[in-house]
Amino acid sequence: MPRKASRARNGAATNGHAVAGDIKDISLAPAGKLRIEWADRHMPVVRAIRARFAKERPLRGLRIAACLHVTTETANLARTLKAGGAEVFLCGSNPLSTQDEVTAALVAYYGIPTYAIKGEDHATYYSHIVSCIEARPNVTMDDGCDLVTVLHTKKRGYLKGVIAGTEETSTGVTRLRAMAKSKVLRYPVIAINDANTKHLFDNRYGTGQSTMDGILRCTNMLVAGSTVVIAGYGWCGRGVASRAKGMGATVLVTEVDPLRALEAAMDGYQVVSMAEAVPRGDLFVTLTGDKSVLRREHFLGMKDGAIVANSGHFNVEIDIPALERISSGKRQVRPLVDEYRLKGGKRIFLLGEGRLINLAAAEGHPAMVMDMSFANQSLSVEFLARKHKSLKRDVYVVPEYIDKEVARLKLRSMGVQIDSLTPAQERYLRTWSEGT
Ligand SMILES: NC(=O)c1ccc[n+]([C@@H]2O[C@H](COP(=O)([O-])OP(=O)(O)OC[C@H]3O[C@@H](n4cnc5c(N)ncnc54)[C@H](O)[C@@H]3O)[C@@H](O)[C@H]2O)c1
Repeated sequence: MPRKASRARNGAATNGHAVAGDIKDISLAPAGKLRIEWADRHMPVVRAIRARFAKERPLRGLRIAACLHVTTETANLARTLKAGGAEVFLCGSNPLSTQDEVTAALVAYYGIPTYAIKGEDHATYYSHIVSCIEARPNVTMDDGCDLVTVLHTKKRGYLKGVIAGTEETSTGVTRLRAMAKSKVLRYPVIAINDANTKHLFDNRYGTGQSTMDGILRCTNMLVAGSTVVIAGYGWCGRGVASRAKGMGATVLVTEVDPLRALEAAMDGYQVVSMAEAVPRGDLFVTLTGDKSVLRREHFLGMKDGAIVANSGHFNVEIDIPALERISSGKRQVRPLVDEYRLKGGKRIFLLGEGRLINLAAAEGHPAMVMDMSFANQSLSVEFLARKHKSLKRDVYVVPEYIDKEVARLKLRSMGVQIDSLTPAQERYLRTWSEGT
C-alpha cells in the first residue's frame, strides 16, 4: 500500500519517496497494481528481458522520456526500462487512453514519475509532454510523434542532450521520415512499428480485436447481419475487417492504394468507394492514418443511426468540425457515444469523440500482443544505448536480430517448437548450383 494516499502533483511524497507527477488520484494505486501484475502475467517476453536487464543494467545512466498510451502494458515496459538502470518519465500519447489506476500505481509503487490524467484537456496534455521534456531526457520514446514535435519546435533548448529515440506507431514513423527528409530531425530514431514482430501482430491482431471490443463496449450493437465499412486496408484495417467478418458482418473496404485494394478484394471483401459505402454502412471504422476520411458529404449520405468510429490516427480521420456544422444538435446518449442530429432529422452516432476507440472505450491491445511491441522497444533502447554514436540523424528499422529474438522468445513462451534446417538444406538454400 502507498503510505500516503493523496493526489501526486508536483512532487507529492508517495510510498516513502518523493516522485514528481501529475495524476488523477493516488488512492487508485492498489487497483492499478493488481491490473499491472495481471498484464505482466501475459507479457513473458518483456518479463524475460526485465530479468536480464536487472542483472546487466544496460540502460544505466539513461534518462528516458516516454510519451505512450498509459496502460498496464506500458507500465510493464516502464518497469523494464527502470530495471535496466534508466530513469523513466512517462506522459500520455492520447488524452483518452490513460488508465488512472495505472498512473497511481506507477507513482506509488514503482517510483516512475507519470504525467497523465484520463480526459485531460488539450493544454494539460501538452503541459504533460513538456514536463517530460523538462526532465532532460537523452532518449525519447514516442507514439504518434507528439513528444518529438514539441521537442523540435517549442522546446528546442532540450534537444542538445538527446542521443536517440524510438517511435511506436505507423503515423509517427511517417512524420519522422518526413522530418529526416527535410533534414530537421536532430537524432536517430528507431521505427518500432516497422519490426515484423510489431506491425504483423500488434496492428493486425491487437487493433483487430480491441477495436471491436471498444465498439461493442460503447454500443452493445449486434455485429452479425450488419454492414461494417472499413476505411484503410493496412495492417490495422485488415485486422478489424477479419474480426468483423468473423462475427457475421458484411464487410466493405475502402482504399486509395491499388495493391491494398486488390488484397482486400482477394481476401473476399467488397472493395468500394466511400461514396458507394456511405448509404449501405451501419458502422464505419477509419484506420488510415489520414485526415478527413469521413467528411461532410459522407455524413450527409449516411443512413439514419449510422455509427462512426476511428481506430487510426488521433482524432483527425473523422471530420468532426464538419459534422458539428451540419448538425442542429448534439447530446451524449451513452458513455462515449455522442448523437449528432442532422438538420433534416437524421442521427449519426460518433464514438469516443473520434479518438482511438480501442483505447477510449476498451483497454487497448491485449497484453499478450503488446508483449512483442514492448520487447522491441526495450531491446531497441538497449541497442541505441550501445550504438547511437554510429547512427545518423535518420529513421532506422529495428535490427533484424532483435526482431528474430522477439519472435523466438515469444514462441518459447507459447511452448511452440519449430524445425531447423538440416545441414544439407542449409547448403541447398545457400548455393545456386545445387539441384539444377
Ligand atoms: N488503434 C490502435 O491501437 C492503433 C495501433 C496501431 C496503429 N494505429 C494507427 O492506425 C493507422 C493505420 O495503421 P496501419 O499500420 O494499418 O497503417 P498502414 O499504412 O499499413 O495502412 C493504412 C492504409 O490506409 C490507406 N489509406 C490512406 N488514406 C486513405 C483514405 N483516404 N481512404 C482509404 N484508405 C486510405 C492506405 O493506403 C493504407 O493501405 C495509423 O494511423 C496508425 O498509427 C492504431
